[in-house]
Amino acid sequence: MVKICCIGAGYVGGPTMAVIALKCPTIEVAVVDISVSKILAWNSDQLPIYEPGLDEVVKQCRGKNLFFSTDVERHISEADIIFVSVNTPTKTRGLGAGKAADLTYWESAARMIADVSKSDKIVVEKSTVPVKTAEAIEKILTHNSKGIKYEILSNPEFLAEGTAIRDLFNPDRVLIGGRETPDGLKAIQALKSVYAQWVPEERILTTNLWSAELSKLAANAFLAQRISSINAMSALCEATGADVSQVSHAIGTDTRIGPKFLNASVGFGGSCFQKDILNLIYICECNGLNEVASYWKQVIKVNDYQKNRFVNRVVSSMFNTVSGKKIAILGFAFKKDTGDTRETPAIDVCKGLLGDKAKLSVYDPQVTEDQIQRDLSMSKFDWDHPVHLQPVSPTAAKEVSFAWDPYEATKDAHGVCILTEWDEFKTLDFQRIFKQMQKPAFVFDGRNVVDVQKLREIGFIVYSIGKPLDPWLKDMPVMA
Ligand code: NAD
Ligand code: UDX
Repeated sequence: MVKICCIGAGYVGGPTMAVIALKCPTIEVAVVDISVSKILAWNSDQLPIYEPGLDEVVKQCRGKNLFFSTDVERHISEADIIFVSVNTPTKTRGLGAGKAADLTYWESAARMIADVSKSDKIVVEKSTVPVKTAEAIEKILTHNSKGIKYEILSNPEFLAEGTAIRDLFNPDRVLIGGRETPDGLKAIQALKSVYAQWVPEERILTTNLWSAELSKLAANAFLAQRISSINAMSALCEATGADVSQVSHAIGTDTRIGPKFLNASVGFGGSCFQKDILNLIYICECNGLNEVASYWKQVIKVNDYQKNRFVNRVVSSMFNTVSGKKIAILGFAFKKDTGDTRETPAIDVCKGLLGDKAKLSVYDPQVTEDQIQRDLSMSKFDWDHPVHLQPVSPTAAKEVSFAWDPYEATKDAHGVCILTEWDEFKTLDFQRIFKQMQKPAFVFDGRNVVDVQKLREIGFIVYSIGKPLDPWLKDMPVMA
């Protein structure tokens, strides 16, 4: 029986390995992590992440050919194929801080492999890493090899949160990069045969190592760039009376452009886009490609602009002050169908409103009060560096309350900000919400989920990203 070990039981390691175990009953899969609480949760009925469809997959294979364990050494030593799926956050200190990827976790995983391995291994980069990381890892492994042979493969993951199981069951493609040597090609074939159990062969792409590593950064940069492009257009739509949804539809029907990933929003979030573009920028700068670096920098600048623009719009519409006013925040996760808040635009929007002394009441169906308080008291980039976790600031706690439903959040509020596109927000009883709010009652839709016309008929003053402005808002100009 082939044995797989995956180091890192997070958003990628957990679901990916569960699907491999489900689709390959003859493979034994062990997912290991240094976090005891996470492994306990993976072994319980309350999995550590919320992902539609994940519970069913885990339940089908856990204890049969899927195991979650903290015995990192044993499972590495027994495995034929080792996936490394640890976090690779942005460095917060030292050389490249604020841009470069922090490979501390990766390096310690690689050193652990070197320390405990007693047989030849295929080591698979599942984490998103800077191009050429495989070379560094190879050096760590071969300098400590004790005669053991290692083949390094790059197999970046393209799943998106909220649709991870669907993406893993039916991926657009699986990418495997490896050395173009006989042993390298053999290792590629071995990994290909795992995916071939359920992915059609023509969707399994093989490349050299550096192309696979770079393709992952490039894919995320291109995806984020589309969002910044449509968000930049949304500002122009508001200024001119065009409607961004109509513009998206009109340009998306051009088959060269395509309709996906053109939804204007309050900004993109998530653990990947910003981190990976910053990483790409750093690599460009290290290679003297400053023009290329500044091109990609703009994608992040526009995203920050979009979040600021939203906050400014809220404050300026409400007579230029939100001081002491209750604002309901509907949705805190970075997108629907996940409880993940890493880099969620809600953090910046909430911090912006708190900066203007608003009182916030936050509702999200999947995010806990503790997580929200923690997010609002952390510094930029600290979220993925547990050692830097700060205690929750008492000031944040006082100005932010947590609501169990949208109606509690909006009671006596002056304004409502919709920051995640949860389906339940589309069917809210806005008549009821209007009745219990202060007047004038404002809705600021950062995700284009509400029916603007219907809400205006109820009596709300509505701002929706990239949509023709309410006459009220036209009279309240926003500072750029
Ligand atoms: P995560 O933080 O959810 O999980 C990483 C896990 O690795 C953590 O549980 C951590 O405790 C563990 N870990 C760290 N060092 C370890 C070590 N030495 N030994 C054992 N366990 C260790 O991160 P994630 O979201 O799963 O992302 C993992 C990687 O995949 C990152 O490089 C990320 O960029 C990439 N990625 C993420 C997504 C996504 O949607 N989240 C998608 C594609 C790629
Ligand atoms: C992303 C990539 O899509 C995935 O391939 C990669 O493996 C990890 O990073 P993820 O961050 O989980 O996945 O979610 P994604 O669906 O890409 O959304 C990212 C952010 O962009 C979210 O905040 C989302 O709301 C926002 N978004 C997405 C928009 O604002 N508009 C869109 O049209 C699409």
